[in-house]
Amino acid sequence: MSRTVYVNGDYLPEGEAKISIFDRGFLMADGVYEVTTVIEGKLIDFDGHFVRLQRSLDELGIDNPMDRDTWLEVHRQLVTQNAVDQGMIYLQVTRGAPGDRDFVFPDPETTKPTVVLFTQSNPALVDSPKARKGIKVVTIDDLRWGRRDIKTVQLLYPSMGKMIAIKQGADDAWMVQDGEVTEGTSNNAYIIKDGRIITRALSNDILHGITRAAVLRFAQEAQMPVEERSFTVEEAMQADEAFVTSASTFVMPVVEIDGAALGAGVPGPLALRLREIYIDESRKAAI
Ligand code: PDD
Repeated sequence: MSRTVYVNGDYLPEGEAKISIFDRGFLMADGVYEVTTVIEGKLIDFDGHFVRLQRSLDELGIDNPMDRDTWLEVHRQLVTQNAVDQGMIYLQVTRGAPGDRDFVFPDPETTKPTVVLFTQSNPALVDSPKARKGIKVVTIDDLRWGRRDIKTVQLLYPSMGKMIAIKQGADDAWMVQDGEVTEGTSNNAYIIKDGRIITRALSNDILHGITRAAVLRFAQEAQMPVEERSFTVEEAMQADEAFVTSASTFVMPVVEIDGAALGAGVPGPLALRLREIYIDESRKAAI
């Protein structure tokens, strides 16, 4: 069935949606995005994603084309028109299409940002077979640029990382800088040792995950100690448990790193407990 998508103010069948070949998102990866999860037709952490979108746009000097309530209205329209029960909404804002290719940014008075949103349904989001089994990760060098805190659409290296993992029979890659894990290709990375949850502190080295913020808050409320600090691959391999977080996977247990099983090689109890708390609390707060 054809989806209804949103392009620059219009709701259109996906086959009729068009953007310019001069769009700087297409030519230069000059754009940012957000992924917001939908459970039971409601949006998880909409405001967290809106605030991060604003920050990404500010960092790149792109005007936000819509206010919070208009963004919310577009999200809700798409959920309704596409009858999304579980899944996600992808949004992208680029610096627009100046009509020529030029490294210099166009004048924002004459070139307006391009806005695209679409939905993706995924009925297995909450009751995920992957979460029951856990995922395997391999480690790779982190070869991305230095502003990973901005959620840009430059996703070629993370995409290559995922393919390296799949070729090795794993599910995902953890990226490593100076011997320490930064994050997963599309998620934040955590280990658990002696009941303590350890995850890299926020900086320009990682994306400031919206799920990360929620999970650390819920962990503290559940009296689970949290350490925001870097960890090495060696430390990760000696951990009791590991997991990743993202809007589209919630809390996903990791059971193997570079071919070595973690603990018993099955999802750990604390990771599973955090997944349950995250899903319950997010459901309650969804709008
Ligand atoms: N990825 N780190 C990276 C590099 C990411 O791409 C993502 C999200 C995260 C987790 O952020 P959040 O909890 O706000 O989803 C961390 C999204 C889901 C994606 O690209 O599909």
